[in-house]
Amino acid sequence: MTHSQVIGTGGYLPEKVLTNAELETMVETSDAWIFERTGIRERHIAAPEQTTCDLAEAAARRAIEAAGISAPDIDLIIVATTTPDQVFPSTACLLQQRLGIQGCAAFDLQAVCTGFVYALDVADKFIRTGSARHALVVGAETLSRIIDWSDRGTCVLFGDGAGAVVLSASDKPGILSSHLHADGRYEPLLTVPAGISRGYDKVQAGQAFIHMQGREVFKVAVNTLGGLVDETMQANGLQRSDVDWLVPHQANYRIIEATAKKMSLPMDRVVVTVQEHGNTSAASIPLAFDVAVRDGRIQRGDTVLLEAFGAGFTWGSVLLNY
Ligand code: ACO
Repeated sequence: MTHSQVIGTGGYLPEKVLTNAELETMVETSDAWIFERTGIRERHIAAPEQTTCDLAEAAARRAIEAAGISAPDIDLIIVATTTPDQVFPSTACLLQQRLGIQGCAAFDLQAVCTGFVYALDVADKFIRTGSARHALVVGAETLSRIIDWSDRGTCVLFGDGAGAVVLSASDKPGILSSHLHADGRYEPLLTVPAGISRGYDKVQAGQAFIHMQGREVFKVAVNTLGGLVDETMQANGLQRSDVDWLVPHQANYRIIEATAKKMSLPMDRVVVTVQEHGNTSAASIPLAFDVAVRDGRIQRGDTVLLEAFGAGFTWGSVLLNY
């Protein structure tokens, strides 16, 4: 039986760091408020000429190098993003061209902050059915482009970045199970209510910004993620204590802490990057995963739980043996 295994990881953050102190000069806020409510101290912001594909390319090259394969070995590219470079071609096709790969399937996947988890599950299914052997799965965002920098309720939360993994066919189980969900009724709580089909004039009129009812999102996220952890453990006949590492979506330290508490997992078994990265949406999990692989925390053979919650609402988890 064919399984899929993560054989390489990579991440990239733009050079520019935006600190809470700088945000204090832009909106009525304070480092203390931001840190206490979210755990965020700083976030990275793409340079004006940098696009999502630029970030994706840097992360992808690092993942391919870590995997010890060459770019033409890749036979599937999925880019999870909410902030593509252009309407079309997809960012995945732009990335394919940059990497000098031709012919393989390449497409974008949009599930906002849950995008990487969705993309990993799709790639796993391609591999397990024999349709691909080496999948490049990327989460990449330039969220700074859809932020209203005068809205203190949202502008302090988000950042730019990209993370990537190479997922390859293996005879040993890597991905153990995936659990994807969505409930579109929650659209009003977290939305960018503008886009091409609704009329580009709205985008030009400055309505292509994140609108969020933060307190309501917070409550649903905490409850939903608790249930998702139970679902994942039950599907695998595992106890929560069997998980070596939790790599959660990095939206808010308090949401991460609540999930860890539900799992009775000490915080030193949870990979937390939100303090330096902010919420990078689809990029946050692969970025955090890469950090913990490169600093030696996540070791081969470890059981790792990835979980995410985002606009849609969408939510999902992947349990894997690294
Ligand atoms: N600085 C100072 N004060 C602020 C700021 C700020 N940056 N932002 C809001 N406030 C004020 C509010 O105006 C409010 O003031 P009031 O009491 O006078 O009305 C007060 O602080 C409390 O506001 P709340 O929104 O209730 O604060 P809360 O404790 O809920 O924290 C936060 C807000 C951090 C946004 C939190 O609700 C949260 O993290 N929500 C979840 C966000 C999230 O996880 N999104 C998920 C996915 S994102 C995606 O999918 C793209």
